[in-house]
Amino acid sequence: MAAYILGIESSCDDTSAAVIKDQVILSNVIANQKVHKDYGGVVPELASRAHQQNIIPVIEAALSEAGIDKTQLNGIAFTRGPGLLGSLLVGTSFAKTFSMGLGVPLIEVDHLQAHILAHFIKDNTAANHHPEFPFLCLTVSGGHTQITRVDDHFEMKIIGRTIDDAAGEAFDKAAKIMGLPYPGGPVIDKLAKEGDPHRFQFPYPNISNLDYSFSGLKTSFLYFLRDELKKDEQFIENNKKDLSASIQKTIIDILNKKLIKASQETGINDIAIAGGVSANSHFRSEVYRIGEEQGWRVFIPKFEYTTDNAAMIAVTGLFKYKQGQFTDQKVSPYSRSRL
Ligand code: KG4
Ligand code: ZN
Repeated sequence: MAAYILGIESSCDDTSAAVIKDQVILSNVIANQKVHKDYGGVVPELASRAHQQNIIPVIEAALSEAGIDKTQLNGIAFTRGPGLLGSLLVGTSFAKTFSMGLGVPLIEVDHLQAHILAHFIKDNTAANHHPEFPFLCLTVSGGHTQITRVDDHFEMKIIGRTIDDAAGEAFDKAAKIMGLPYPGGPVIDKLAKEGDPHRFQFPYPNISNLDYSFSGLKTSFLYFLRDELKKDEQFIENNKKDLSASIQKTIIDILNKKLIKASQETGINDIAIAGGVSANSHFRSEVYRIGEEQGWRVFIPKFEYTTDNAAMIAVTGLFKYKQGQFTDQKVSPYSRSRL
C-alpha cells in the first residue's frame, strides 16, 4: 500500500513542509525568512519566532498542494538536528503533536543525512537517476562542508570535514566584507559571471588529509581589501566582479581538490554534490568538467532540493518508515551533528 509521509524542516531560517508518496514528491513548500536580511546573518531568536508564524500555513499548503487530507498521512518526519535549537524546537514540537493527534509514527531525521538522501527524490520532471552505492557525497552549505562515503541509505561515514568555517560561510563572509547583502553566495555567483577569476590570487590551505579549512582564506581576503582600500577608497566598488570571480574560483578549487583526492583514495567514481552551495553555477560546471576528466558519474540534485527543503526530510523519513525506525515522543532536538 502507498505510504504518505509529511516532512518538516525548521533547522535554520527556512520553514518547509513536503509530502512524499513512494519516493515521489507531491509538494515541497518553503517559506524563506526575510527578517534576517538587515542583520547580515541569521538571528536565532527571530528565526524561531518566524518558524512559529510560518509552520501551520506551510504545512496546510503542503497538504493542499499534494491533494491529500491529513488523515491520509502514514508518518510525520521532522528534522531533529543539527541546527539552531530554538528553530528545531518549533518543528519538533509540531511534529510530535501532529503525530500523536493523528496516531501515526513520528520519525526523526538528521539534516545532513537528508541533504545526501535528497539524491533519491523522484519527481515528475527530473530524469530520476541516482548514484549507486558506494558513492561519495560532498555536502556544502552555510553550516557544513564534508565528504561522506555512502555505503547504504543509513550507512555513512564522514571521511573529510571542515576544521573551521563552512564553504557557504566563506562565500557569505567574503560578501559581507565587500558590503554585499546576505546571503552572499548567490550574489557572488551572479557578479562572478562577468568577472575575471584569475585577476586576484588568494592562498590555499595546506592540510594533508581530506579535511577543509576556510578561515585563513577569509582573513587574507579581509587584509588584502583593507590594504587596497588604503590606496584607493573605491577599490571594492571598482573591482567587485573580479573580486567575486577570484574568491569564488578559490573556494571552488579548494572544494574540488579534496573531492578528487577522496575519489582517488577510495576508488569511488559515483560523485554526488549536496547542500546550498551546490547551487553555485561555477561549482556545478567545474564538477561536471572534472567528472569528464576523472571518469566520474556526477549527481547534482535539482536546485530546490539542494538548499534547505522538506522534500529531503520526507524522502529520508520514508526510508526510515519502511524500516520501522520510529521515534519516541520524549525526543528533543540536537544542535551538533551526530553522523
Ligand atoms: O543548505 P543551505 O540552504 O542551508 C544550510 O544548511 O546552511 O545553504 C545555504 C548556503 C549559504 O551560505 C548561501 O550563501 C550558499 O548556501 N549558497 C550559495 C549559492 N546559493 C546558496 N553559495 C554560492 N553560490 C550560490 N549560487
Ligand atoms: Zn542544510
